[in-house]
Amino acid sequence: MGLRARRSVLAVPASNPRFVEKARGLDADAFFLDLEDAVAPAEKEAARAAAVAALAGGGWGEKVRTVRVNDTSTAWCYRDVIAVVEGAGAHLDALVLPKVTAARDVQWLDTLLTQVERAAGLPVGRIGIEAQIEDAAGLTEVEGIAAASPRLETLVFGPADFMASLNMKSLVVGEQPPGYDTGDAYHYVLMRILTAARAHGLQAVDGPYLQIRDVDAFRRAAGRSAALGFDGKWVLHPLQVEAANEVFAPGQEDYDHAELILDAYAHATGVERRGAVMLGEEMLDEASRKMALVIAGKGRAAGL
Ligand code: GLV
Ligand code: MG
Repeated sequence: MGLRARRSVLAVPASNPRFVEKARGLDADAFFLDLEDAVAPAEKEAARAAAVAALAGGGWGEKVRTVRVNDTSTAWCYRDVIAVVEGAGAHLDALVLPKVTAARDVQWLDTLLTQVERAAGLPVGRIGIEAQIEDAAGLTEVEGIAAASPRLETLVFGPADFMASLNMKSLVVGEQPPGYDTGDAYHYVLMRILTAARAHGLQAVDGPYLQIRDVDAFRRAAGRSAALGFDGKWVLHPLQVEAANEVFAPGQEDYDHAELILDAYAHATGVERRGAVMLGEEMLDEASRKMALVIAGKGRAAGL
């Protein structure tokens, strides 16, 4: 798809210099400096300045550099955007917009970004948008949101806010609610977000798992969205970074097999001019090529 890798997306409270410093050295594909829910109201202004300094200070390597602003219903949002883009727009790849409930939230951010880019002499349209889907209203509107702007790169599931929005009877974010044992409580929301994202050529990223010491449970939760096709997951701890990079990349065996399928199919359609071919016991056709291309693409991006 030509989009940036986002297997592991590291959450970093912009107001915490120790976490910001530590984040630079971690092997996450992407990070966001948080101005929203990890920052106390009294610290919002200082956090803006800290985010600008952290971006401008560099040292982030190849990571995708993003900032999560406050949502459009708050008094902070517009100043977050202006301060961050004016202060460090050249060092910023995308903004994360939380609690998106309608296409107009994204369109508003697109318009404001364009104004600030023009005023600051930045190339217009380079800074992307990631939209968090994290309540009932956002999920209801997800198709329209996915189509809202060419700046959109990613739809991100926000399980904590979403569980609160639905009145889910659980306090463990990202985990199955006790009492519901006949299925996966997140299947519907994950599939809707994923489908809307793919319909518009966007990435789909799963949200945080807050039990940071339980890496096995993180792997289980990440494995679920990775299996469906999600591109990555938010991470809060170095152990989660490592696990996400692994879980969201294909296994070596699958990757090798995908490359084999691509070679065999290219040979069959090119040299032999046939639309279907056998690879061992397996019949390959054009759809097999597309599936192999997804796995091979993810594997190449992961350096396999
Ligand atoms: C993330 O923002 C969440 O609400 O889970
Ligand atoms: Mg949230």
